[in-house]
Amino acid sequence: MKKKNTIQSVSFEKSSQNIQQCPTSTMPEIAFIGRSNVGKSSLINAICNRKGLAKTSSTPGKTQLINHFLVNEKWYLVDLPGYGWASVSKTKKAEWEKNITRYLLERESLYCLFVLIDLRLPPQKKDVEFLDWIGENEIPFAIIFTKSDKISNNKIQTQLRMHKQHLLKTWEELPELFTTSSETKFGTIDVLQYIEKILN
Ligand code: GTP
Ligand code: MG
Repeated sequence: MKKKNTIQSVSFEKSSQNIQQCPTSTMPEIAFIGRSNVGKSSLINAICNRKGLAKTSSTPGKTQLINHFLVNEKWYLVDLPGYGWASVSKTKKAEWEKNITRYLLERESLYCLFVLIDLRLPPQKKDVEFLDWIGENEIPFAIIFTKSDKISNNKIQTQLRMHKQHLLKTWEELPELFTTSSETKFGTIDVLQYIEKILN
């Protein structure tokens, strides 16, 4: 049976610098985070089947605000700025960290945080540290490996194995894992189905 995309409507609602500016609505939110350039905005577009919805760029640091997109008039997809972007000033980095930390810790309607990881790379220190932090703070999360179209099927399997082994060093059991490509849309419906499961 062909998997169906159940997104009937999606619209950009607003960009916020901090949690105070976020929508007052309490509708459930599903947020995307990960290192700059990992493909957060592209994946949101692929899931929604809308190319220019979230702004993307080959230069890291494109998304700098908390962006809310309303889906099916019922829930939000939230595009967050990337972490680990080297060429940003210290002051800006600190401010970003403060704003995103507050959003992640205090946004009561945050149902799930997807942490995106580039499948082509070995486990990165920044990602490992970030996962440890969300674990300590008990933020509900799942992992999405991105850019799977850039490597062979064999390499996908070896990379997945390596990432799982690495995760099991710190986690008692593996979180939910997805492998995706925004280019070919591989895995995007699985992510959407998982979101719907969480929301129901
Ligand atoms: P920031 O907003 O800067 O934190 O980056 P981001 O994580 O939102 O990344 P973005 O979606 O802007 O994508 C970064 C670059 O990677 C762009 O050039 C995308 O076209 C490319 N890209 C993203 N996802 C994929 C993918 O699945 N496959 C391929 N081949 N390229 C991708
Ligand atoms: Mg982005």
